[in-house]
Amino acid sequence: MIRFDAASKRYGAGPPALDGLTLEIPAGETCVLVGPSGGGKTTALKMVNRLVEPTSGRVLIDGRDVASTDPVTLRRGIGYVIQQVGLFPHLDVAANVATVPRLLGWDRRRTERRVDELLDLVGLEPATYRHRRPDELSGGQRQRVGVARALAADPPILLMDEPFGAVDPVTRARLQAEFLRLQQQLRRTVVLVTHDIDEALRLGDRLAVLATGGRLEQYGTPAEVLGRPATPFVADFVGSGRTLRRLDLLSAADALALRPPIASEAGGAIGATAAPDAAVAPDATLADVVAALLTGDGAAVRVVEGGSVLGTVTLDSIRAALRETAADPAVPEVQGEVELEDDGESLGDREGPVGSGETAR
Ligand SMILES: Nc1ncnc2c1ncn2[C@@H]1O[C@H](COP(=O)(O)OP(=O)(O)O)[C@@H](O)[C@H]1O
Ligand SMILES: [Mg+2]
Repeated sequence: MIRFDAASKRYGAGPPALDGLTLEIPAGETCVLVGPSGGGKTTALKMVNRLVEPTSGRVLIDGRDVASTDPVTLRRGIGYVIQQVGLFPHLDVAANVATVPRLLGWDRRRTERRVDELLDLVGLEPATYRHRRPDELSGGQRQRVGVARALAADPPILLMDEPFGAVDPVTRARLQAEFLRLQQQLRRTVVLVTHDIDEALRLGDRLAVLATGGRLEQYGTPAEVLGRPATPFVADFVGSGRTLRRLDLLSAADALALRPPIASEAGGAIGATAAPDAAVAPDATLADVVAALLTGDGAAVRVVEGGSVLGTVTLDSIRAALRETAADPAVPEVQGEVELEDDGESLGDREGPVGSGETAR
């Protein structure tokens, strides 16, 4: 667990780079720092591995102030991926990935095994890529090597600064998908910086929206940030596509729950209206449902699970679902609870064995 405790950074006069950031990132989650350029995202990220020291306030990892940990030891437990990947150009892929294991004095067999395992993990066939040099790779492949290198010593924490910023949109989408798959598997505590709200919504379990001057505007799940922007700045930053984006985060089941099926619907007929011909699963996104409504003939879409019809979704029930989740009165309370949990501590909340563990501080 990473905790920012009123962490500020000032460079001379003028507005601070980071202004009293307080937030907690639970172990195993991905927190995305998102906002316009100059909002203090990189500054906040670098405080975690002490590349930047706060002017005031603290950063704690598992309850311990990073300022009290030797930087070299600290960084061994923290993978770091940056946009300009920073691979050593004269070393091949294997040697680049093995950077930290070599520093740690691993023997050759263990290192080689780990390198191959990591190349597999990031989707680079070891036999093909092991001995290539960085200039013999595409941008996306270099980025994958950067991720493999950051993961080499199995760090519980991963810091990523605009990791997919330097590649074309198609490669970027693929790397994002791979990141999600990897994180599903590895469950590291990830802090990822981006200025791209779509990337943030896609990758983050939680988003910290930072404005110029290093001010935290909102900290919440993608659904909260989209459904209840805390400030005009957030609403503006999330933009006019907000409603359409929310459709991606809500499911057919969310729209059903608000309007339980009536008997005749459950049977498949919906009274006077023509029988809907489209059907979706309960976990289909509302974006899929809207697409089905637009392309089908009926005014409703059936929600089907295991051969039985759970009910139907119409534009009205979608509207109700959007309204309901935007005006969710539980949201402020949920934020309050998160703060209470801070005090309750949760040192042991990492689920299951993740990595070697000895580098957890
Ligand atoms: N080493 C530095 N010296 C002076 N100003 C800095 C330094 N690093 C960052 N800043 C300033 O701090 C602010 C936040 O920078 P940064 O954290 O890099 O923002 P972001 O990553 O959100 O684009 C910017 O105004 C930047 O110019
Ligand atoms: Mg930056």
